Amino acid sequence: MKEVIVAKSAGFCFGVQRAVDTVYNQCGGKNVFTYGPIIHNEEVVKDLENKGVHVINSADEINDDSTVIIRSHGVSKDVYDSLHEKNVNIVDATCPFVLKIHKIVKEESANGSQIVIIGNENHPEVEGIMGWSLSDTYVIDTSEKAQNLVLDSQRRVCIVSQTTFNYNKFQLLVEIISKKGYDILVLNTICNATQERQVEARQIASQVDVMIVIGGRNSSNTQKLYEICRRECKHTYYIQTLEDFKPEITGTVRSVGITAGASTPNQIIEEVHTNVRIKF
Ligand code: F3S
Repeated sequence: MKEVIVAKSAGFCFGVQRAVDTVYNQCGGKNVFTYGPIIHNEEVVKDLENKGVHVINSADEINDDSTVIIRSHGVSKDVYDSLHEKNVNIVDATCPFVLKIHKIVKEESANGSQIVIIGNENHPEVEGIMGWSLSDTYVIDTSEKAQNLVLDSQRRVCIVSQTTFNYNKFQLLVEIISKKGYDILVLNTICNATQERQVEARQIASQVDVMIVIGGRNSSNTQKLYEICRRECKHTYYIQTLEDFKPEITGTVRSVGITAGASTPNQIIEEVHTNVRIKF
């Protein structure tokens, strides 16, 4: 009998699962929209389109009899304001961990602190966080940017992080800023979900003959999972859906591990799991 281990942390994190469930619960309602794609998974977005849930990128695209779901990344205050102005029904699925960052940034900036966000300035989550600051705000993601950062030495500096930022890099950038002698308040707002998924993937990959990593080609967190697993298990395969699964890869082995990136729906993980078991 062969062993198949599916990572408990495979696929959606708590915040994304909650947001996706929220959208499916609203399906069937009149004029339901998501503000941006709910997750980076084309099949899910297409499925929702078929169920009548469309993606918008601005409040101008809708009328007042609409329901708009805000995804787990959250949005800026301006976006809420524009939706309120339209008088639409807002269903807020922002992850509570992201809401906590909005609150910190709003309060600290209102008290006069300068805000430094460690993260990718083009990521929607970071754009949303920036939009809650009432004072000078800087976004950095490299040592160079941290070194070049010049702040007002008379005012406090509040540092927060994008939830999915790498912890070691966060520490490194904080250290660089700390050496500049500002009065800083550092709040590590990194979420554990990504790290937990990586730690579990590494642990499973180190004990199986074949490891399967499921996720979109362009998903950077899935690519990272693949690299981590590949280091532990040389028979690691990256597949996007069940169609990419070749039964022969698990044919004669004794144990198989399965994990998946953050935007991989459970259904795909289960399909692959079932097929691995059947093909044994
Ligand atoms: Fe997911 Fe929320 Fe963490 S969306 S990665 S649980 S911050």
